[in-house]
Amino acid sequence: MSKRETGRYESTSAGGEQVRAFVPHALPPAGPPIVIEGELAERVRAAEQALVRLELAGEMVPSLDWFIYAFVRKEAVLSSQIEGTQATLMDLLNYEAESDAPPPNADVEEVCNYLDALTFAREQLADPSGLPLSMRLLNETHRLLLRGVRGENKQPGEVRRSQNWIGGSRPGNAAYVPPPPNALPEVLSAFERYIHAEDSLPPVVRAGLLHVQFETIHPYLDGNGRIGRLLVTLLLEHWRLLTRPLLYLSLFFKRHRQEYYRRLNAVRVDGDWEAWLDFFLDGVATIADEAVATSRDLFTLVTADRQRVIHHTGVNLLAVQLFERLPSRPIVTAPWVVEALSTTKPTAGRAIEALEAAGVLVETTGKKRDRVYAYQAYLDRLRAGTELGDEG
Ligand SMILES: Nc1ncnc2c1ncn2[C@@H]1O[C@H](COP(=O)(O)OP(=O)(O)OP(=O)(O)O)[C@@H](O)[C@H]1O
Ligand SMILES: [Mg+2]
Repeated sequence: MSKRETGRYESTSAGGEQVRAFVPHALPPAGPPIVIEGELAERVRAAEQALVRLELAGEMVPSLDWFIYAFVRKEAVLSSQIEGTQATLMDLLNYEAESDAPPPNADVEEVCNYLDALTFAREQLADPSGLPLSMRLLNETHRLLLRGVRGENKQPGEVRRSQNWIGGSRPGNAAYVPPPPNALPEVLSAFERYIHAEDSLPPVVRAGLLHVQFETIHPYLDGNGRIGRLLVTLLLEHWRLLTRPLLYLSLFFKRHRQEYYRRLNAVRVDGDWEAWLDFFLDGVATIADEAVATSRDLFTLVTADRQRVIHHTGVNLLAVQLFERLPSRPIVTAPWVVEALSTTKPTAGRAIEALEAAGVLVETTGKKRDRVYAYQAYLDRLRAGTELGDEG
């Protein structure tokens, strides 16, 4: 039994076949509307409280740079893994350690694009004369996301002009056929209107609704998942639930991929917004609490290591300064240290040696020249957070 009708079907031709495309009704859900009570109200409260804890965990840290660095990169790596790319945190950090080399492969390029896209969107929103949260902003963000090798022929920055489908080898056996291109202007402007509309639903709920609506509309030829997740990040910031992009839902969606897809489908097929919200809010609470734990973990490590560095014999001011740079740059080379700390080669070498002796830096290449040093314990903790749970 369907809970409510969430859209209409339109016959359209795709790949030479006639198929039924789905055109979602405008948000908020109606007939019946969503009522926040009982278990759902509990879920909302739990998600909101977890976000408050996360916001506070962010504020406890004296310097936020490295903290955000870790989360943003993690999200980027995970997001790209969902897409099927193989970039690992190590690939990315290694690449960033080699200052001006071009990205070594399409995976790393994709992750860098994600970072650029997120940074761009946040800057626009923070700038009073920047773009508001709108399709124009998402399009520009999409342009950055799909720049380069993989995205080239996927119309970066543009809403699709052709019929697409999800799952299946052709439109006829697809899991889902999104709205036909001629319906996009209408559904996308309704989508935009709801972002800025007055609504009594809690913002975290609205973010969940908008994510589904975005995936259902599937406005781009590719990158809909990544932009749809970025949208959640941007909405939480826009509605002041978090002041920094500290929530990376990719991990949750990836861990529960089957359920994620099932719940998306159930909104369309059964009108079951409530089950989706249950899943989504659980994800927000779970991931926020994991982020709090990770941030504490990283913070504790850096604090303990700082003490060790300061009290280690042979450590000078430059070594301490280098140490303070490591959380936002956990892989370094001697030339980078020379440049970053405006010093000479021999002094940079001594600073690196001192941190090696203090057990903070580890040389990773085993080579005599072009050596690369890693803040290994820190990387281990960062990496731990990108591993998946059981469901696979
Ligand atoms: N049955 C479905 N109904 C609606 N949306 C779906 C369905 N199955 C998957 N999706 C959405 O489509 C996204 C994938 O679309 P697309 O390939 O355009 O995005 P992506 O960013 O390239 O990939 P990914 O999300 O896997 O990183 C999924 O992340 C999910 O949000
Ligand atoms: Mg894709």
